[in-house]
Amino acid sequence: MADTSYMARKSVADIVGSADADEGHSLSKSLGAISITAMGIGAIIGAGIFVLTGTAAAQFAGPSIVLSFVLGGIACAFVGLCYSELAAMLPVCGSSYTYTYATLGEIFAWIIGWDLILEYAMGAATVAVGWSGYIVSLLHNVGISIPPVLATAPGTVIKLADGTTATGIVNLPAIVIIAILTTMLVLGTKESARLNNIMVAVKLVVVVAFIALGVFFIKPANWHPFIPANTGEFGNFGMSGILRGSAVVFFAFIGFDAVSTAAQEAKKPQRDMPIGILGSLIICTILYILVAGVLTGLVPYAELNVPDPIAKGVDAIGLNWFSILIKIGALTGLTTVILVLLYGQSRIFFTMSTDGLLPPLFARVHPRLQTPYLSQILIGSVVAIVAALTPISVLGEMVSIGTLFAFILVCGAVIYLRRSDSDASRPFRVPGVPVVPVLGILFCLLLMAGLPLVTWVRLVVWLVIGMTIYMSYGRNHSRLRYPERH
Ligand code: ALA
Repeated sequence: MADTSYMARKSVADIVGSADADEGHSLSKSLGAISITAMGIGAIIGAGIFVLTGTAAAQFAGPSIVLSFVLGGIACAFVGLCYSELAAMLPVCGSSYTYTYATLGEIFAWIIGWDLILEYAMGAATVAVGWSGYIVSLLHNVGISIPPVLATAPGTVIKLADGTTATGIVNLPAIVIIAILTTMLVLGTKESARLNNIMVAVKLVVVVAFIALGVFFIKPANWHPFIPANTGEFGNFGMSGILRGSAVVFFAFIGFDAVSTAAQEAKKPQRDMPIGILGSLIICTILYILVAGVLTGLVPYAELNVPDPIAKGVDAIGLNWFSILIKIGALTGLTTVILVLLYGQSRIFFTMSTDGLLPPLFARVHPRLQTPYLSQILIGSVVAIVAALTPISVLGEMVSIGTLFAFILVCGAVIYLRRSDSDASRPFRVPGVPVVPVLGILFCLLLMAGLPLVTWVRLVVWLVIGMTIYMSYGRNHSRLRYPERH
């Protein structure tokens, strides 16, 4: 008999079974550990390092933003281990939504699915705002000037080159990039593994070149004081500033979990998933720490609150051609991240819709293009509006808190499943359960504590809206609880 409680959960055996049954006509198992790691890096390096490092250093942590990255990296290492266990164990459209459905039950799965909108859709909006900053700056290099008020969210005060100030009206370039990428996704332009590898290579070369060249131009005086004194307000420099900085730049790590969505395409998920997730995390953490160190060594941290801080760092080196190269690299990098996030969002909605928690519209596939076109257009439109009207700092903090919340549930899922399904096959096991997942939870909570109260309030409001939608739609349409209605 169907379980009609809100805690109804999918069984691990069913999920794994449906993946096996699918094997004949599903995605080919073509990805090796290196491709998966490259995919992870493609999804990870984006606005976090290219934009938020500068704003967070200027506003919260100064040069000690380096330590913020260390803290963020430690938190993600614990969470990454948990993702690895689940991705290898449940190699199906592995998102935290699926994991939660199998553990804590439907109501939590809904909460996490709803919460993932913050990570994916809002994440795409955040990166689009970052993209806007870099394109404006690149166009400026080639003599085309976009009026700053047309590339800034309404209400945001901008300092103009002549020393006067103006207030933003709308972020047009952010709309443009979302429109282009949404069109590509609707038309089914698949980001081939090869193209992705090339774009990732460009991004990596640019980041490594920044570190390798920049290191020779560092002025150590810029690192003093390394931890600027707290101004008397929580989060404004000092120790609490490192924490807040960490919560903000946590955004830079988001994306390693997207690797888990490729589990079905991995040649050997049990080996390749942990390597891909942890490998991309380790590489990015090292690069981030180095970039943050070099950047704050090149430019006094107080000057980094600009839309294109890395380019500002390069300006300090004084090589114009390199500055242009960096901007092109940043734009390439940001583009791949937006693409992955917009794509991921539509696929999560697709799964939620197939489960009956969202209307069928989100699972409607275009007969010729074979893409969930309606959903993709709807997502693109909303993301474009949000990106056009919201400052990057507000967006970034929302994405961070939403993702941290999702990560806590994933760590919890590992502990839960070890008890509820102790016999299930676990090709990769998190060492030291429950200590490692518990540490993951505690570190995520710590980072969440670093975010301002208003961000917490926004998260609660968001979750309440989600609950209202579940109560009025999902609970009555759930395929798991009411199979007879489908
Ligand atoms: N980690 C991704 C970025 O920084 C989301 O853009």
